Amino acid sequence: MRKPNIAILGATGVVGREITKIVDELNIEFNEIKFLSSAKSAGSKIEFRGKEYTVEEAKPESFDRVNIVLASAGGSTSQKFAPEIVKRGGVLIDNSSAFRMDKDVPLVIAYVNDEDLKNHKGIIANPNCSTSQLMLVLKPLNETAKIKRLIVSTYQAVSGAGLAAINELTENTKAVLNNEKFENSCFKKPIAFNVIPQIDVFCENGYTKEEMKVVNETKKILHLPQDLPISCTAARVPVYNGHSEAVDIEFEEEISPEKVREILKNSFGVKVIDNPDNYEYPTTRDASGVNPVFVGRIRKNLAFKNGITLWCVADNLRIGAALNTVRICQKVIEMDLF
Ligand SMILES: NC(=O)c1ccc[n+]([C@@H]2O[C@H](COP(=O)([O-])OP(=O)(O)OC[C@H]3O[C@@H](n4cnc5c(N)ncnc54)[C@H](OP(=O)(O)O)[C@@H]3O)[C@@H](O)[C@H]2O)c1
Repeated sequence: MRKPNIAILGATGVVGREITKIVDELNIEFNEIKFLSSAKSAGSKIEFRGKEYTVEEAKPESFDRVNIVLASAGGSTSQKFAPEIVKRGGVLIDNSSAFRMDKDVPLVIAYVNDEDLKNHKGIIANPNCSTSQLMLVLKPLNETAKIKRLIVSTYQAVSGAGLAAINELTENTKAVLNNEKFENSCFKKPIAFNVIPQIDVFCENGYTKEEMKVVNETKKILHLPQDLPISCTAARVPVYNGHSEAVDIEFEEEISPEKVREILKNSFGVKVIDNPDNYEYPTTRDASGVNPVFVGRIRKNLAFKNGITLWCVADNLRIGAALNTVRICQKVIEMDLF
């Protein structure tokens, strides 16, 4: 297997730091690695596999001789550097939403639609975090009983909005407990002791962009019909890390909760915790810092004919961003696609 030269763009951010950790955890083999950021963090140090690296400011020439770029530096940064990376023959694996719906860009969850990687033209997109955790769950169920309709309600952690948002939850909570004034900046409303039914901006149809990402990205990844009805409500909750989702699925064919449990117990990347009599169901504290997508509360849905309702929890920084990015990198190396 050929070994690539790798660059981590956005290495000093919440997702970038996680990517760096997971490159090591998954034993990704490379010739050279470099860590890139904006001018702000350039010069800072990163310790990786026992060696100290200096973070460099990302410039077009930073991508000379780089084969694979793992990017989590925001949409405008990816848009700026994508042509420079592709021009130099590199492959960009991008965490932002800049390219996800481009028809020439595969949108991939590793182990769900790896075959789509073969169609890449230099850019591969990593899905939105709330979509990502669902795909490992829906793929095997769709293969068995065909999804007919889907309703998703998300409860999303602040880490999904970056480092500044994590700090805002801490500072806002302290201010409330100390009866002090606080001005929120990352969120439109105070996040401490609150639930905010808005993530990203509103679209003309009344849904937010985050909600429409779940609708559109799910169809693209699972190759579902464009007219398949999917609805989503996305809310931000005062949790540091780990997204939770209540998922209502109507299937073409009847499928029992026992069958769903059995399928998911044998599916890659999924862990079932489902024994409500013993108070056993997944929470964000179970999911934070580990790789599986956890599923519990699997039951017959009372509103749909062939319906199942379940609760799905995962580490949004891992499966929702960094873990999938590094898994894609692993597949690109294994499939010799760089
Ligand atoms: N957090 C999540 O759960 C999640 C999930 C999926 C996707 N994403 C996406 O991943 C990206 C990063 O998110 P994050 O939460 O890690 O944000 P973050 O903590 O704010 O980190 C942003 C990173 O990007 C770098 N950066 C910013 N502007 C840059 C520029 N012009 N050139 C080079 N580097 C630049 C920053 O460098 P400095 O340190 O120098 O500022 C930092 O390393 C976003 O596109 C986000 O939508 C995040």
